[in-house]
Amino acid sequence: MTEVEAHLPQRHVLVGVSGGIAIYKAVELVRLLAKEGFSPTVVTTAAGKRFIMPLTFAAVARAGVLDDDSSWQSSSGWFEHIEAARRADVMVVAPATVNTVAKLATGLADNLLSAIYLAFRGPVIVAPTANWAMYEHDATRHNLEILAQRGVEVLPAGEGDLACGEEGAGRMASPEVIMAAVRRAFAGLAAGTLAARKIVVTAGGTREAIDAVRYIGNRSSGKMGRAVADEAYLRGADVVLVTTRPDDETAYRCVVVESAAEMADAVARESAEASVLVMTAAVADYRPASVSDGKLSRSDSPELTLRLVPTIDILAQTRRSGLLRVGFAAEAGPRIDRARAKKAAKGVEILVFNDILAAGIGIGSDENEITILTSAREVHVPRTSKAACARAILDEVETVISGR
Ligand code: CTP
Repeated sequence: MTEVEAHLPQRHVLVGVSGGIAIYKAVELVRLLAKEGFSPTVVTTAAGKRFIMPLTFAAVARAGVLDDDSSWQSSSGWFEHIEAARRADVMVVAPATVNTVAKLATGLADNLLSAIYLAFRGPVIVAPTANWAMYEHDATRHNLEILAQRGVEVLPAGEGDLACGEEGAGRMASPEVIMAAVRRAFAGLAAGTLAARKIVVTAGGTREAIDAVRYIGNRSSGKMGRAVADEAYLRGADVVLVTTRPDDETAYRCVVVESAAEMADAVARESAEASVLVMTAAVADYRPASVSDGKLSRSDSPELTLRLVPTIDILAQTRRSGLLRVGFAAEAGPRIDRARAKKAAKGVEILVFNDILAAGIGIGSDENEITILTSAREVHVPRTSKAACARAILDEVETVISGR
């Protein structure tokens, strides 16, 4: 903990762990929480204790550990489940087995974890895990839906190899994804302008098919869009990332697309009820006029001429009142004049300019240098991480929304 963090008010996170093999990830989660200056307290079920001794959590993060053998009456005289609930700012249940999920959904309080859940009034994050068949069972789905409707943030289980030797959906979200959800919950307690607003972010370069195997594409890595989506998520927004570059894990929904036309469809659908659209994607301006079904062969045509036709302008087609649109202008050279003209032509509230020829920044890099153009001002952000650029962009988005 840094000296500054030592003076911050304590941020208490209650980590409920139940008996699934994914509990080994909860050890890492508790370690990360302590490392980032949160104060974790672990509450384990009896089944959880059979997997991992309370001492492990205590040792990894100097975290207090409560279980069903803890005195139900704490030192201060309050019942332990009530006091633990009072002390906590945010509650995480990870791993949440289907049994624990069912208890939370139905309001059973037959162990300390489920009793604390009922007594707790702050944000709750649940990371379920199970064998795929148990996870996909109607009963489990129904219980998770009940929790989501109640405002619990349910972090869907991912697909992959499961401890039972089978493959499918049931892997608990990673400690990093759960950490992002915790940070977001604390940001939500502060309730910024983007909290609970839907924001659609596009990322990556589109691919325009030539034939069944080839395409015309560009070098966009999708990192800037991912950074904007991550930051919006942390600010409590309801994020949808429309991307050509799917990432292993995100805490929010991703729609994977390939071509400009597919991206246009997804953006039209997703932005219908959104407050903000951030078009970070490098959308192809042209696509081949026709696509061969099979594979074009060199022996059939020693030379090849492709006829290209314009793609749909996604930003232009999404213009409507109530939707704040952010465009990007990646220009070859310090052409802020072109960016200003593009802002006017596209009718966007915010345009982010960057010079793709400047060394070490932009396409593919982890850093960027941008100028954010709004109708009120132009904010220059000197070379920095794409995460910091994303914060500056969303600061301007929040300013424009607040001024409306
Ligand atoms: N954009 C879009 N649909 C397209 C092309 C671009 O929505 N078919 C969006 C980009 O995501 C970006 C903004 O428009 O946010 C500007 O893209 P850019 O390629 O810089 O501009 P163009 O409109 O392609 O203009 P030009 O080719 O003249 O630079």
